[in-house]
Amino acid sequence: MHAFKYKNSELYAEDVPVRKIAEAVGTPVYIYSHDTLLRHFNAYREAFNGQPHTICFALKANSNLAILRLLARNGCGADVVSGGELHLALKAGIPSGKIVYAGVGKTENEIAQALKAGILMFNIESSDEMLAINEIAGRMKKKAPIALRVNPDIDPETHPYISTGLKESKFGIPIEEALEHYQLARKLPNLNVLGIHKHIGSQITTIRPFVDALQKVISLAKTLRSHGIAIDYIDMGGGLGIPYRNEHPPHPSELSKAILPLMKDGNFNLILEPGRSISGNAGVLVTKVLYIKKHPQKEFVIIDGGMNDLIRPSLYNAYHNVLPVKKNNRKKVVSDLVGPICESGDFLAKNRELNKVSRGDLLAVMSAGAYGFTMSSNYNSRPRVAEVLVKGREFFVIRERETYSDLIRGSRIPEFLKQ
Ligand code: LLP
Repeated sequence: MHAFKYKNSELYAEDVPVRKIAEAVGTPVYIYSHDTLLRHFNAYREAFNGQPHTICFALKANSNLAILRLLARNGCGADVVSGGELHLALKAGIPSGKIVYAGVGKTENEIAQALKAGILMFNIESSDEMLAINEIAGRMKKKAPIALRVNPDIDPETHPYISTGLKESKFGIPIEEALEHYQLARKLPNLNVLGIHKHIGSQITTIRPFVDALQKVISLAKTLRSHGIAIDYIDMGGGLGIPYRNEHPPHPSELSKAILPLMKDGNFNLILEPGRSISGNAGVLVTKVLYIKKHPQKEFVIIDGGMNDLIRPSLYNAYHNVLPVKKNNRKKVVSDLVGPICESGDFLAKNRELNKVSRGDLLAVMSAGAYGFTMSSNYNSRPRVAEVLVKGREFFVIRERETYSDLIRGSRIPEFLKQ
């Protein structure tokens, strides 16, 4: 059941009126549903039950410590792409043996940090990186568990900024060159080759790209095995889309139905790295109407949330549904919902039809639980917003709103400017 729904014209998050949270915590505020997060995670768990697997939540979608703790408690692992994400995953209690580490630009310190932690595996993106990891592991007298991220050249039919598996992308190693890379990896004394990794893109709404890519990866695994290279893990990345508007992405059970037959008899351990499909529709951004401004051609609703709080509309022209926190029957008006930032690209919705709103009204920007807070910034020196987790009738602040002192934390005035 959907956690954000109306009761008597009032929007609720589970059993708490959204208005109540906005009054207590202020706006803008991200609100997440505990039940929805768990339901989405369990949908994966149940779908892949029977197949040895680990679900490694992609922290880039949402790295709030309380949310990570909730997922960790339920057996979730982590897909990290930086030392910072690794630190958060461990802090949240995700066992190091359930952490995979991707990314094209791992630094020496980050590699050492991950080796020290004893992660499940590095998803390596180039031969240079492979040599670096081998060298650092040698220095630390460790063996680095690795997979190579291959690029299967599959079109995920999604936004070009978030498709990563095409030939021209910076990610991974072209699949045709994989064998030679694995042969090099095998020769390096401080690497322990465990598997293959791929991730073809995000917000994918059909099954086909997953199947096509996995077929290529499994056939590579067979080739590698025939060369005596042990492949135990297949990491199929993330990418399953969510409904933002009227998309009908497959359910994890449809995904598993399509791909598990391909894995049959392979004796593989499967890793999945979902991000958006777990947290995206478990969160909303609630913002308040500041002013209404009418230009001859256009009406603007100026809200207190901007592109620094949720950048997806500005960056990808992404559509987020907007719902009034209190429904009204006033006439419909088409307007742009714009933030206070000094940029023309600062909008959360364009040409959107809503029942007329006035100053002080609250609006919920839906599907904001993934790539929302994690992509937010302090642009225009705006403190980053609060985050709240709702569980049944209770709600908990899981990140305090930043204050002005956070804006100068770490700043130093050199002596010569002090006089
Ligand atoms: N694994 C890897 C290696 C990834 O690069 C990503 C996302 C994921 C897993 C998780 O993908 P998901 O299940 O969330 O689709 N900022 C963009 C999305 C960028 C995704 C980058 N990689 C957005 O707001 O749409």
